[in-house]
Amino acid sequence: NRRIPMVAGNWKMNFDHIEATAFVQKFAWNLKDCHFDYRKCEVALFPSFTSLRSVQVLVQADRLKINYGAQSVSVTSQGAFTGDVSADMIAALGCKYVIVGHSERRKYHPEDDANIVDQVRAVLADGMQPILCVGESYEERRQGIELDFAVGQVHDVTRDLSDEEAARMIVAYEPVWAIGTGMVATPQSAQDAAHAIRDDLTATFGPEVGEKVRILYGGSVTSKNAVELIGEPDVDGFLIGGAALDVNELTRICRET
Ligand code: G3H
Repeated sequence: NRRIPMVAGNWKMNFDHIEATAFVQKFAWNLKDCHFDYRKCEVALFPSFTSLRSVQVLVQADRLKINYGAQSVSVTSQGAFTGDVSADMIAALGCKYVIVGHSERRKYHPEDDANIVDQVRAVLADGMQPILCVGESYEERRQGIELDFAVGQVHDVTRDLSDEEAARMIVAYEPVWAIGTGMVATPQSAQDAAHAIRDDLTATFGPEVGEKVRILYGGSVTSKNAVELIGEPDVDGFLIGGAALDVNELTRICRET
């Protein structure tokens, strides 16, 4: 009765649409070659906005079972917002998911909790699922407040959602100190955070929602550490950055998840 695990590859600002197309073709071929069972593990890619249409065309033409989504979304639905992309536009490209509140967005753009709540609402309103990123910095970990911090981030963004909306959330626990550094969280600390987040969701929305929400781990995941991490009961997959840029490495992680 376990949640279906998910491997999500966040390409960040890498790959133009030609490179993205070549990657998806090779990735699909790799997964076919190893008889990958998509029913046991869901796979999703998060290209740049400029590549989403190319990925959609390829997925449709070859009937690939690879899902895809956007890395961020505007909180407004249309109008004079130069450079922004709305949830309607993203949904129209066949996206199933949108990453929301990634620490890089929180750092380099004015995205605070209020803005992230609005992004979550925009994504849900268009029938897609948000992947809400949370996680402490090195400083919070040093102070020993990492669990409270991550739980608080999830709580503040989700608390006003309905049970039905909350059940469609995916959470990615990504300690900021682990992102792109090669310093992966121990399986135990990934489990502790995922468990604490799930406990809080259960307290707010009830056990059905708590059991349903997938909680991914992100931060220097590779094929070398994925097996141990996925062995933890509350870790339901991964949000992967660097290792998702190497098609063979990403394939290995999918096989191990
Ligand atoms: O969204 C992905 C995370 O930021 C993890 O990145 O796997 O390069 O550490 P990383």
